[in-house]
Amino acid sequence: MNKIYLWGIIFTAAMLGFTYMSFDFKHGLSDIVNQLAIAGAIALVLISVFVVIKYVRQMQTDTADGQLAAEKWDGIGEYLNELPMGWAIMFFLTMIWGMWYFTIGYPVNAYSQIGEYNEDVRAHDAKFTAQYGSITGDRLVEMGESVFLAECKVCHGLTADGIDGKAANLNKRIEVKSVKYTILNGSNNGLMGMEMPMPDRNGLFNGNSGALITDAEIDAVSAYVANGMTGAGADVFAGTCASCHGEDGKGMEYVAPNVAQFTPALVTNILNHGKKAAIGTMPKFDRLNAKQKEAVGAYITSLSK
Ligand code: HEC
Ligand code: HEC
Repeated sequence: MNKIYLWGIIFTAAMLGFTYMSFDFKHGLSDIVNQLAIAGAIALVLISVFVVIKYVRQMQTDTADGQLAAEKWDGIGEYLNELPMGWAIMFFLTMIWGMWYFTIGYPVNAYSQIGEYNEDVRAHDAKFTAQYGSITGDRLVEMGESVFLAECKVCHGLTADGIDGKAANLNKRIEVKSVKYTILNGSNNGLMGMEMPMPDRNGLFNGNSGALITDAEIDAVSAYVANGMTGAGADVFAGTCASCHGEDGKGMEYVAPNVAQFTPALVTNILNHGKKAAIGTMPKFDRLNAKQKEAVGAYITSLSK
């Protein structure tokens, strides 16, 4: 017997075996859907095997006739046959369909889940803005508190104290280790709302003034900033930081951020860009809309007052 028939029988037996194993006999063959499914599975196996065997046999025994073209490519020749008309028509129709598909068809005009999501978000934001867009003052702070409880509490804790250093303590502007980290490593977190990095210790203080800020000066100025701009270190701040952050540390537009206190704008920038620094990584929050960011900024600003 030709080997191909043997393989056909083995394959058929195996597939029918799998069909048998996958069948749920508890409910039997009484159900018409089950009957159809089983009949379909058996038919599919038999037809596949039959077709495959037929074509393999044909490949094994067929000999070609007709006139060969003169050229050969790596020993493979080409018959001088007419291009079948049906094939040519199909080919051109496929090209026309391709152009239709690209310009008017699916990719440009079709339904998209992301598109629907974006539309829903836009519609919701419009409704939200109509209802809450004009809120200010205490109500804005309250709205910010509810955003905080929903989105930020997991990391910053119920009272925004940072849960033992897992995230920044938002009841004060900044901690000693964070100031120190920034002076040593620089910072590029988009705190100004744009690319406006603070260079690291060497880049900033060596190049600018020629005098490297000493470790003792760094400790002093870090404590000064973290203590709300009070205590020792004021002279270092005035000498090396005030030119960018301002005498009072409240920052300057387009130059350096406020390191003395939170402002809604600063929080919004942090929510837009995320923040990676001494304590860890704060994710950005694209899912909040502008008013929600402003509100949670107002809430955080209110905490340290
Ligand atoms: C996945 C945890 C996580 C979530 C959620 C999170 N934060 Fe943070 N956040 C952090 C970490 C960590 C830091 C500290 C980054 C650093 O080292 O300065 C931080 C820092 C901050 C800072 C900067 C503090 C500073 O001194 O500059 C602000 C403001 C802030 N988060 C606000 C928020 C708000 C508002 C939300 C909710 C909308 C929020 N965070 C949600 C982890 C988180
Ligand atoms: C050349 C201008 C410049 C000087 C001088 C400068 N800074 Fe900055 N500083 C910046 C900028 C810009 C940022 C914001 C960087 C960013 O977006 O992450 C920044 C960020 C910071 C931050 C980070 C705030 C946060 O929430 O993470 C701290 C802290 C800070 N500076 C402290 C200092 C101290 C202390 C000095 C003096 C020893 C100093 N800076 C000198 C420009 C400056």
